[in-house]
Amino acid sequence: MLAASYRIAELAAEIEKQTQRIDNYLTSKSFPHPSFDVGGPVDLSLPPDLKYSRAAVLRTTQELNDLLQGPENLIFNHQHNRLVHLKLISHFDLANKIPIHGEISFKNLAATVGVDRAALIRILHLGIVCHMFKEPRLGMIAHSTASRQIAEDPLAASWVGANVDEMWPAPAKTVDALVKWPQAEEPNQAATIPSGTVIDLGGSHGDAAFALARKYPSLRLIVQELPEVVTNSQEEEDLDVKFMVHDFFEEQLVKATDVYLYRWNLHNWPDKYCIKTLRALIPVLKRWQMDLTMLKIGNAKEQDLDELKLVFQDADPRFAFKGMMQSEGSKLAIIEFTWE
Ligand SMILES: C[S@@+](CC[C@H](N)C(=O)[O-])C[C@H]1O[C@@H](n2cnc3c(N)ncnc32)[C@H](O)[C@@H]1O
Repeated sequence: MLAASYRIAELAAEIEKQTQRIDNYLTSKSFPHPSFDVGGPVDLSLPPDLKYSRAAVLRTTQELNDLLQGPENLIFNHQHNRLVHLKLISHFDLANKIPIHGEISFKNLAATVGVDRAALIRILHLGIVCHMFKEPRLGMIAHSTASRQIAEDPLAASWVGANVDEMWPAPAKTVDALVKWPQAEEPNQAATIPSGTVIDLGGSHGDAAFALARKYPSLRLIVQELPEVVTNSQEEEDLDVKFMVHDFFEEQLVKATDVYLYRWNLHNWPDKYCIKTLRALIPVLKRWQMDLTMLKIGNAKEQDLDELKLVFQDADPRFAFKGMMQSEGSKLAIIEFTWE
């Protein structure tokens, strides 16, 4: 009892301290302060040390919230409907049906998309509680900063779509899948870095490769992807980044490469597929070759790293773990394996 009340006071003091730092910085730079209003800033442009403050506030407010809810609410308060409004917004492209600086009635919005008005209002009220849209006056809906971003930034809209269509349903099936396939494991995620030639396997439209090429102009980068992705990708003038159709489960054909990069592209694959893609590299690997993998580790758990090491060992014991680097505040780490 005593410990809990001490903890909430401690958390409150930390929140106050870190929030004050952010507030002072924004005020001293005359930057806009966070707001849910439609004109509010999308990005606070904080320097690295204040990004740490922000992360600390987010973490401590969550802990304070959980503590004050108490164990009973933590058990009963699941927020299982938390994403339903985003699903509705994404499915009917609602963000683009509301004027950026105006308002529209729920009645007209429901008629535009052809759904029941009462149901639409109930679901969107959930969104409004989460600061997605606003109800400036009874019966009317308008944009908030967040909903405006969905309307104006196609990447944000796609991200929401991918989350509600693919990510959201997945956790509900995870345990069933584990029961059905007891050997299945959550795959880790991987990527690469060095000098010389880098092959970015499953490198999508090349964003990471372009960033690497900009930072290290002497690198030669090849993005290997599925045909439909390559068709829709564009090389950039002045950057040594080429696109190549290649299925990363098939034998690697490009020799004389220094690094094979897996970045965020093994997470959907069970271990046996991770092993398959690693083994597909073996015919062209050179001794001492660097193979850096980027692993998504939400809580930097040692266990994730151990799991990844096992995957590499299962693929071939000649993959040797060299080390892991993780920048402060980053959820990603660079993990290096060499071929010996
Ligand atoms: C989650 S994305 C990661 C993209 C990129 N590496 C990044 O970090 O942003 C996974 C990528 O793997 C590609 N991919 C999936 N299966 C593949 C395969 N068999 N061969 C090559 N690429 C594949 C997909 O097209 C997709 O672009």
